[in-house]
Amino acid sequence: MKRILITGACGQIGSELTSFLRRRYGAENVIASDIKEPLKDTEESGIYEILDVRDKKTLKEVVDKYSIDTLFHMAAILSANGEKNPWLAWDVNVNGLYNILEIAREKNMERVFIPSSIAAFGPETPRVKTPQETVLKPRTIYGVTKVIVERLGEYYFWKFGLDVRGIRYPGIISSKTLPGGGTTDYAVEIFYEAVENKRYTAFLRKETRLPMMYMPDCLKATVMLMEADLSKLKHHGDFNLSGMSFSVEELAKEIKKHIPEFTCEYKPDFRQEIADSWPQSIDDSAAREEWGWKPDYDLSSMTEDMINKVKEKLK
Ligand code: NAD
Ligand code: SER
Repeated sequence: MKRILITGACGQIGSELTSFLRRRYGAENVIASDIKEPLKDTEESGIYEILDVRDKKTLKEVVDKYSIDTLFHMAAILSANGEKNPWLAWDVNVNGLYNILEIAREKNMERVFIPSSIAAFGPETPRVKTPQETVLKPRTIYGVTKVIVERLGEYYFWKFGLDVRGIRYPGIISSKTLPGGGTTDYAVEIFYEAVENKRYTAFLRKETRLPMMYMPDCLKATVMLMEADLSKLKHHGDFNLSGMSFSVEELAKEIKKHIPEFTCEYKPDFRQEIADSWPQSIDDSAAREEWGWKPDYDLSSMTEDMINKVKEKLK
């Protein structure tokens, strides 16, 4: 992993992954890209290219220009936005992925990271402690594209020997960049509203329980998997990963410990049906056994840190 290209570097995860990888591997070795204009600190801390992952020619030019040997492919359309425009979700998530894998194969790259999601599961999957090997019959276009991410990634591993690795991320909670149109976005929005207005209207029912993870754990897991010894991996593009699991009401109660005036209302919208088709908690024993995964944050430590960070940001 000498020369890294990140796609989707302006996104919730991509923006923090860019800083994290630049600190770890050297700013000059981590090229950030996105279809959008750069975020200020991403542009100031290293090289940035405007890049649409559906444009294979430009993708290839960027890969050649910087002698890229490793890709972190974070560009995607998420679950809620995907339901609003399934054609766009297919185009970006599948055609973009195909370009990434083909260029990585053609250039004989060292390693590729392609994230999957808890959205790869569906209503027929066991919802509690969802096993590593289970039913993958998602009902969202985003979930369908994530099953393709997993299966196509592993196909390239077995067929072409391309070292493709991926995680089924749970909902990610963070304070730097707002989430990009998913079903778990409520778990970030709630902190901003609690700090600013002391009230929040959730778009899910209060008992809705989903698997979640705090950003520092997400970054740690991503790098741990990418640095893991290939000979120890039995899985490749589809690792279950667990951080914490809570209902909307449990999160609201935890926030109330820090902001006693905080109140939360519940007005479910179309995202409720999506959430109801996803797991409540995840069995990540394969990640623990194969590359030593263990999260640092639980609901209480994440909430305390998020409130401090959001207060600081909104000052
Ligand atoms: P995000 O929506 O915040 O960011 C995605 C980025 O991709 C955006 O900056 C967007 O501009 C960019 N993008 C969109 N279309 C593009 C295109 N055609 N070419 C180049 N860039 C394009 O998403 P995120 O939360 O940072 O997610 C990163 C990855 O992790 C995605 O694959 C997502 O499915 C996965 N994931 C995220 C979560 C989460 O909770 N954030 C959970 C599970 C999986
Ligand atoms: N956070 C993502 C979403 O809600 C899960 O992949 O779409």
